[in-house]
Amino acid sequence: MKENTSKLLILYASQTGNALDAAERIGREAEHRGCTVKVFSIDEFDASFLPHEDTVIFVVSTTGQGDPPDSMKVFWRFLLQRNLSRHWLEGVHYAVFGLGDSSYQKYNVTLLVVLNY
Ligand SMILES: Cc1cc2nc3c(=O)[nH]c(=O)nc-3n(C[C@H](O)[C@H](O)[C@H](O)COP(=O)(O)O)c2cc1C
Repeated sequence: MKENTSKLLILYASQTGNALDAAERIGREAEHRGCTVKVFSIDEFDASFLPHEDTVIFVVSTTGQGDPPDSMKVFWRFLLQRNLSRHWLEGVHYAVFGLGDSSYQKYNVTLLVVLNY
């Protein structure tokens, strides 16, 4: 069988721990399938290095009144800067997994903002 040597970066943004749990679970599943996995809180990773990654999974929750978790504030500002090209993640395989609750008016807003890039 061909060995899977894919490198996967998982970045999570969590307020109360659920996104962390989900990120670690995804990481374990990927490792079982032969991927080399790194899991970081989003505030531990310099976003300017993202275009150099091969595959990234964002696991992000929404908190407050449609706000990103505290750990995501810096990354959030990075995403909203005016001069950030819409193509900045071109060439990177990425997926976004959002945790939210549909009883809130601003359901899963963090996911939607990250997906927009
Ligand atoms: C105080 C509070 C505010 C929340 N606000 C929202 C919200 O505005 N939109 C939403 O979709 N979910 C909201 N949620 C639901 C969370 O996104 C959901 O519980 C999620 O699993 C939390 O993930 P975390 O533990 O990684 O932060 C809120 C939850 C709490 C406790």
